[in-house]
Amino acid sequence: MRASGIVIAIDGPAGVGKSTVGKMVAKRIGYSFISTGKMYRALAWKALANGLGLEDDEKLVALARSLRWEFPKGAGPEADVSLDGKVLALELSEESVSRASSSIAKLPGVRLFMKDMQRQAGLSGGVVMEGRDIGTNVFPDAELKIYLDASPEARAKRRVGQLKEQGMPADHAQILDFIVKRDAQDSGRKNNPLRKADDAHYLDSTSVPRDQVVEAIVELFKAAVK
Ligand code: DC
Repeated sequence: MRASGIVIAIDGPAGVGKSTVGKMVAKRIGYSFISTGKMYRALAWKALANGLGLEDDEKLVALARSLRWEFPKGAGPEADVSLDGKVLALELSEESVSRASSSIAKLPGVRLFMKDMQRQAGLSGGVVMEGRDIGTNVFPDAELKIYLDASPEARAKRRVGQLKEQGMPADHAQILDFIVKRDAQDSGRKNNPLRKADDAHYLDSTSVPRDQVVEAIVELFKAAVK
């Protein structure tokens, strides 16, 4: 066991509910929660704002290094990342940012920067961390690994619901298309692609209510810390 508890890694494809489930689990067991997708999204947002090329690994790493990264808790409903004091929330959900984040996530320098920051944030434990490569690359030594899956159809349906709740436009067919493309990009890349770690528990949430998924992870947690 680490100083503050274990590391719980939750990986899985886009829109599967890793953040919602991860936050609920963290709250139940008194752990902190870190969304690594938000980190990629924040850098992508800043790169778009600065008009930086999304293929330029060196410039993107220099930009990432020049920023003051903070992870404020409870700063807003969706605010978990702030850059140079600016809290980023809804802007990170925009489709252009989703696409750009998946694109910069291919670059080895960007990935290394993120991995260092993520390891630093989780090293002492007591943390639920979600992403694509947490169990395989960032914390291959995580004490509990979950691979959360659901059909693309189910994920698109949930995403439409989320967007509508936020008062944003949502077209099911278009969102399904985005999800399928992002899956292909995140699983097909050379550097730390999305895949289930051999020792991860596979949970398919296609037709399982969210509360039940949370319950299953809390039970796995209890067994892991026994
Ligand atoms: O989980 P998300 O949709 O917020 O993530 C945005 C993008 O960031 C995703 O398409 C791929 C990338 N990502 C990654 O490559 N590795 C992670 N650990 C988290 C996210």
